[in-house]
Amino acid sequence: MRPPRSVTADIRRPIARALDVALEATIVGSFSRVGYLLRRATQEWGDPPSARGRTFLVTGASSGVGRAVADGLARLGADLVLGGRDLDRLEAVAGSVREKGVRARTWRVDLGRGADVDAAALDLADELERLDGIVHSAGALLPHFTTDANGVEMTVATHLLAPFRVTWHLADRLAESDRPTIVTVSSGGMYTQALRLASLEMAPGQYRGATAYARAKRAQVVLAHEWSRRWSASGLRSYAMHPGWTDTPGLAESLPRFSRLGPLLRRPDEGADTAVWLAAGGAGTEGTRSGIWLDRRRRSEYYLPGTRPADASLGDELWRWCEQRTGLSAASD
Ligand SMILES: NC(=O)c1ccc[n+]([C@@H]2O[C@H](COP(=O)([O-])OP(=O)(O)OC[C@H]3O[C@@H](n4cnc5c(N)ncnc54)[C@H](OP(=O)(O)O)[C@@H]3O)[C@@H](O)[C@H]2O)c1
Repeated sequence: MRPPRSVTADIRRPIARALDVALEATIVGSFSRVGYLLRRATQEWGDPPSARGRTFLVTGASSGVGRAVADGLARLGADLVLGGRDLDRLEAVAGSVREKGVRARTWRVDLGRGADVDAAALDLADELERLDGIVHSAGALLPHFTTDANGVEMTVATHLLAPFRVTWHLADRLAESDRPTIVTVSSGGMYTQALRLASLEMAPGQYRGATAYARAKRAQVVLAHEWSRRWSASGLRSYAMHPGWTDTPGLAESLPRFSRLGPLLRRPDEGADTAVWLAAGGAGTEGTRSGIWLDRRRRSEYYLPGTRPADASLGDELWRWCEQRTGLSAASD
């Protein structure tokens, strides 16, 4: 005789949890496709909530994880604003998501050009009928030191200051939504670095792309929680997540050795799954102020000694740093 369904679930749940913990103890098990497939097979992952009638801005929508996020949200019925630098590639994505019966428009912006980001985001704020969420997925590991027009190191300008600018200008539109949501696509690489404002921007002589990237990705997680802390009164939910190791053009270009992992790499839709689920409201109100999500579960932000902040004011300090580096502040509004 088969046991009743709920009894089966009661037995399965601790086993699935134990498997998840075991996977998390090994980076390869957790970050690779193995982790995704085993978790999906053993945990009770339902469909994400419908996103019909909601509008999301997805940056980095022309490629890789961002493109898969756009596809996933379109499948849930969301209308989309697709951000990136290359209009042809964005139009191609827009065409494919429209086939799912949703509305899609492109938003051309180079996130490495601060003044352009401000102007484009202000225009977008005027043009949009509504905005329910932003998925900050744009990013790249930059092998050589460059700066933006304001002298800000480019990894920091693109990954940290650009999302800060975009969100700043769209905050009022987001606040009109009944469930405003931000999802920031960080990276497991951030586990290797602490956030120290003094060394967040690497100097030209010391620049190493992977280190600069990991520091900026750590800062993204702190900023994601700071949005929640500051704007929770408007109902904002802001999550940080990472996609694991995902087979994308960006990965192939920046970390070709990872590409050799072949079948161990996640497909883009698998790397994007948690971002789509979070954006659509899958996590409810849980986990907006701490942790980083992977495979639909909130995980620790710290695995390595020395990466925890010394005190709780770091988010506030990062916010002020971003205000100062962008010239945006509540006082100057
Ligand atoms: N793949 C992985 O294994 C992995 C792991 C951890 C984290 N991530 C994160 O996932 C996100 C997406 O990466 P991916 O692997 O999907 O890479 P990808 O295929 O290269 O996609 C990157 C996207 O970011 C956009 N972008 C980059 N720089 C930009 C800029 N200055 N202005 C505007 N858009 C810009 C690109 O747009 P253009 O068309 O304009 O180039 C593209 O749409 C990144 O934040 C990355 O750090 C990826």
